[in-house]
This record gives sequence, C-alpha cells and structure tokens, in this order.
Amino acid sequence: MPRQHSSLAQASQSDLFNPPIRSLAKLAEAEAACTRCSLYRDATQAVPGEGPSQATFMLVGEQPGDKEDIAGRPFVGPAGRILDQALRDAGIAREETFVTNAVKHFKHEMRGKRRLHKRPNNYEIERCKIWLDDERKLVKPSAIIALGVTAARGLTGRTLTIAKLRGKPFALEDGTRFFVTIHPSALLRIEDESDKRAAYRAFVADLKAAAAVVAATPPHSAAR
Ligand code: URA
Repeated sequence: MPRQHSSLAQASQSDLFNPPIRSLAKLAEAEAACTRCSLYRDATQAVPGEGPSQATFMLVGEQPGDKEDIAGRPFVGPAGRILDQALRDAGIAREETFVTNAVKHFKHEMRGKRRLHKRPNNYEIERCKIWLDDERKLVKPSAIIALGVTAARGLTGRTLTIAKLRGKPFALEDGTRFFVTIHPSALLRIEDESDKRAAYRAFVADLKAAAAVVAATPPHSAAR
C-alpha cells in the first residue's frame, strides 16, 4: 500500500477532522472555542495550562477556581499560593513546571452573589481529556503529578484512592512517570492549625519524592 494510504488508514476519524495541534498557543485557541460539554456556558473563559513548553514537571489540578476563571490563568488564587510555597519547599522551581487542570472551565453554582466551586463529573472530565492529552504531547514532561482525584481521573480514566497511592512512583500508559498527591485546596479546608501543618508537610514530602525520582533517573531513560 502506498505510504500516504497506510498513514491515512492509521489515523483515527477524529485525527482526520482535527489535525494535530502543534503549539501551546494554538492549543489555547482551540480550548477557548471548546463547547464539548456545557461548562463553557457559565464560565468566563477556558483556562489553558501555563508554563514552559519543555517543562520537567506537569502538575495537574482539578479545574480553574473563581480567581483563575477571571484571570484566565491556572492556580493564581489561594490554592495556587499554597502550591507555589510547597513547590519552593520541595526544591522544585515553578519555572520548571507546567501547571494545568483536568477540566478547563470553572464549574460552579450561584449562592447569592457568590460563585461556589462544584466538582466536575466523570463525563466533563472525559470530554476535557483531549486538551490534557494535547498538553502532554506538546510538553512531554519527565513526570506528571496529579493533584487530587479529578486530576488522577483525567490522566488515568480511573478513580484512584489518593491516600493509598500518594508519593509513590507509577507510570502512565506512554511511560511518563506519574505521581498522585492531594489537591492543595484540601489544606485550606483544615481548621486545626497543627493538622494543617502536618498535612502541608506530607504534601511537600510527596512533591519531594517525585523530584527525587526524576533527579535519580538519567535523562536518556526518561520517557521524553
Ligand atoms: N484549583 C485547581 O484545581 N486549579 C486551579 O487552577 C485553581 C484551583
């Protein structure tokens, strides 16, 4: 079979109608036009991932929050401040990280004038997965860290128990090293100060464990 035909035969139908996106800027444009689920209707805008196109680490959160929805940038609100601090304490430079979310639009409900976060459901996570997959293909991080269950679901298609799996190295189907830990907003909900400090230390320890595995793996044996 001529080469052209065999590659056409291998391409899926969606590949034929949606040619591959080759830059993060083009990907952000495509995300901005996304209507694959209903979440776009009530959100201000899609919030694309952010960070260097060759980042060592990809950190995946759940979905943009209120502040992120308005700013159009991930992790710029209270959870983002904790994440930044924890990355510093774990010795991971924020500039080495690509930060994104499993779901690109802010899901919320109105309570008076306040917009209250609502957890995205499995359908919404699944519909948004193409954007996360494209981010992974473009950035090719050495390691991906899922922050919480929604991120883990977006990356694996499964509901994982974070408490059992956190801080341990796994691999995604393409060989990329994969870690799970809590979502930083979980720390914001802990009222007792000493519990909060202990949970923060455990979060930093998970990030450090991921950094140690990446540092110990020679660049050529990494998936990228
Ligand atoms: N929480 C998330 O999961 N992502 C953000 O971007 C902000 C808060």
